[in-house]
Amino acid sequence: MNDVILARALHVLFVVIWIGGVAMATTVVLPAVRRGDLGADRLKAFQAIEHRFVWQARVAVLIVGLSGLYMTARLDLWQRFTSPGFWWMHAMVGVWSLFAFVLFVAEPFILHERFHRWATRRPHLAFAWLHRAHWLLLTLALLTVLGAVAGSQGWSFF
Ligand code: HEM
Repeated sequence: MNDVILARALHVLFVVIWIGGVAMATTVVLPAVRRGDLGADRLKAFQAIEHRFVWQARVAVLIVGLSGLYMTARLDLWQRFTSPGFWWMHAMVGVWSLFAFVLFVAEPFILHERFHRWATRRPHLAFAWLHRAHWLLLTLALLTVLGAVAGSQGWSFF
């Protein structure tokens, strides 16, 4: 079972890197950008940070997804997806799918161009919206971490 231990260790390590980065962006970077503390050009300040973090997040999402699927297959945990008590398994897959869509589809093909235009015309509104979206994703991710750690020890809250 050393392979499952390794998969779990990688899974949690990259969850920490990914969700920790989202927490930093939401609670530190975006408030500073919105207030203009990193310069009057909010878009430039945001992109300088975002274009570096987005690659860390993409790699982390891939490793978390692969290690999660590996554990599910290796331990044959598929039947958990039929039971509401394992809501946190659904939450993990749901949060993963949401971020994977944002990072691999929406950001490069839709948001990058549109957000650039919006933030140039109406920076206050665009960054307020972006900040709210980050809060929503962060909240869902943190609830999932809480549920997964408690749930994998047999505590499902329901
Ligand atoms: C395709 C997506 C994912 C799959 C298939 C998956 C699958 C798994 C599996 C099978 C486990 C072990 C459960 C057990 O030992 O009973 C696990 C643990 C865990 N997962 Fe995921 N996961 C995924 C995504 C995520 C995401 C997005 C997060 C965080 C937001 C996350 C956070 C965790 C945590 C914190 C643990 C608990 C580790 C521990 O306490 O031992 N997972 N995951």
